[in-house]
Amino acid sequence: MRDLGSADILALLDIAEKIESKEIQPDISDKVAALLFYEPSTRTIFSFDTAVKRMQGKTIIMAGSESSSVKKGESFSDTVNVVRQYADIMIIRSIVEGAARYASELLDIPVVNAGDGSNQHPTQTLLDMYSIKKTQGTLEGLNIALVGDLRFGRTIHSLVYGLAHFGVTFYLVSPRHLKLPDYIRNDETLSNVVFMESNDLNEIIPSLDVMYVTRVQKERFADPVEYEQVKNSYQITNSLFQHNTPKDTFRILHPLPRVNEISIDVDTTKYAYYFQQAKNGLFIRQAIIAKLLGAI
Ligand code: CP
Repeated sequence: MRDLGSADILALLDIAEKIESKEIQPDISDKVAALLFYEPSTRTIFSFDTAVKRMQGKTIIMAGSESSSVKKGESFSDTVNVVRQYADIMIIRSIVEGAARYASELLDIPVVNAGDGSNQHPTQTLLDMYSIKKTQGTLEGLNIALVGDLRFGRTIHSLVYGLAHFGVTFYLVSPRHLKLPDYIRNDETLSNVVFMESNDLNEIIPSLDVMYVTRVQKERFADPVEYEQVKNSYQITNSLFQHNTPKDTFRILHPLPRVNEISIDVDTTKYAYYFQQAKNGLFIRQAIIAKLLGAI
């Protein structure tokens, strides 16, 4: 997300909007997209696959490394150099931070980061920003709570950089061990961003426009005991909104998957937006691919 300015972001959101309304229908029928997913995924892999197919393109997919020659010890650089021989664009998810950027330095085709370890998840952020603009009518000057795992949450890290261009105030709500990393809090490029810490959701709900909730990610903890201590830190239930009336336009976002951090009784409230948010991923990923392949 550090590579994108506000004009780049708004241009992609605009393309996504035109794709959703069918005002434009990009055609990539002569292109093949390679999806290399070294880590599990449901939304990102399926929405990228669907995005390519909605534009008449083809996909080749590695979903997990078990069935590929990675299992025989083939290096990451050899793998991407070989797959490049078959594809026009590569979409990579890896547990290794910087993997997609490294591939982009090796290859002469566009490479998209579909999530790299605890670092960034930029296409998720673009769909989050699309969702926020759609529900709030603007990205400017919003009050946004970031709840849950702010330390390892790559969706959080990317979202902070993306929204930094738009004068938002972030309310940081996390257990002590899962705070937003200092390298982000102290980043000079974020000096215009207002960060407020809070541990009381009741207090902040009436002033919020968006509550962005994340899962405490078991797979990121080196110490299982530390995970057990924090796994149930925040649970959003419907009763929270009965005691504290949110704004009418208030919406709850979550990149999903969820475990227990949002109770299913919230799903039927008008505030729940996480399933529509997942759908928005399709339009934004179509926009990203079409733009990178010069189809718009
Ligand atoms: N939000 C997200 O990245 O979900 P998946 O891990 O299922 O792709």
